[in-house]
Amino acid sequence: METDNIQAARPYKVHIGRGILPKAGELLRQNHKPCRIMLAADDTVDALYGDTAVEALEKAGFSVCRHVFAHGEASKNMEQLSRLLEHMAAEGFSRSDMAAALGGGVTGDLTGFAAAVYQRGIEYIQLPTTFLAAIDSSVGGKTAVDLPQGKNQAGAFWQPSAVFCDIDTLDTLPAEIFADGTAEAVKYGVLADAELFALLSSGDFKSELAAVISRCVEIKGIFVAEDEQDKGKRQMLNLGHTLGHCIEQYSNYSISHGRGVAIGMSVIAHCSAAAGYCGRDTAEAIDKALTANGLPVLCPYAIEDIAGLIQNDKKRRGDRISLVIPAAIGECRLLDIPMNELSGFLAAAFR
Ligand code: NAD
Ligand code: GLY
Repeated sequence: METDNIQAARPYKVHIGRGILPKAGELLRQNHKPCRIMLAADDTVDALYGDTAVEALEKAGFSVCRHVFAHGEASKNMEQLSRLLEHMAAEGFSRSDMAAALGGGVTGDLTGFAAAVYQRGIEYIQLPTTFLAAIDSSVGGKTAVDLPQGKNQAGAFWQPSAVFCDIDTLDTLPAEIFADGTAEAVKYGVLADAELFALLSSGDFKSELAAVISRCVEIKGIFVAEDEQDKGKRQMLNLGHTLGHCIEQYSNYSISHGRGVAIGMSVIAHCSAAAGYCGRDTAEAIDKALTANGLPVLCPYAIEDIAGLIQNDKKRRGDRISLVIPAAIGECRLLDIPMNELSGFLAAAFR
């Protein structure tokens, strides 16, 4: 088992390895008194891993309630948030009780937000079961739900108390859902680690999954420790996300988060190259890394269709927006541009 430490204002550990879910209660018990835990999972994950999680927590002395909702991005909304909060209230959960998110990024974001606002904040743990959640969404404390107007428009910064990442659970992921996580892993390579990028570009890294997850979590931890509230450096973690979120929303979420990020990353890399901020070889290398992992790079929509949605991006400040652009593999920068120049900047890459 590998353990990464996240140095947020309230630090916590990320445990990564095989066979961790059956030991999650025992590991949690090392730092927490027994309490009640609301275990939230979507229907797919609950069927696969709900019983194991309940057994692990109960044998360590925790008392578990199960909350199950329909899988998919469509559940990351205010209605499901309200149901989860009301379930905790109906069960008489108090501020010394906890929530646990068993699943992918949808479950983590929804459950984390519920924990952030239930009785003004209770603790929660993350039990990621997708590659994306393992390397990204379970760490860093960004929680949110979508509004009809856009992705993640209501949320809170609320760090988990611990993350237990059982790599065994990733074995049941369909290939296309695993690939969604690879888009975020490629993002970490482009941002900060040319060696990681090269490994991912081979399209064959499953034998080194634990090391890849640990390295991605380590990179994320550096950005989070420096800028927990996303006011500066952490915004770099949104490479590919400005367009990615718009593509997801415009597709009515038929295009997944990971695929939106893959396309967004390719587009922004080609824009960066067209404007002379990086070489064309950098944009081409990013495309190769993504396609080697079964990910798309071409935007299926016209720039006019999605440009309006960028208004909701959380990196917009008044009439300006910060874009994360690659300078080279392993190095990115923030480019602050006026909103009225955005379409022109992006148009270069709509091929
Ligand atoms: P997801 O949670 O919807 O999971 C994808 C699908 O995989 C679901 O249908 C789920 O039932 C299924 N699944 C999960 N684990 C499984 C397993 N082990 N075996 C078989 N099936 C399994 O999606 P995701 O890709 O994990 O996460 C995407 C979400 O994460 C988006 O909403 C995105 O905005 C969010 N996100 C948040 C952050 C953050 O920092 N908070 C970062 C990146 C992404
Ligand atoms: N996924 C972007 C962040 O956590 O900041």
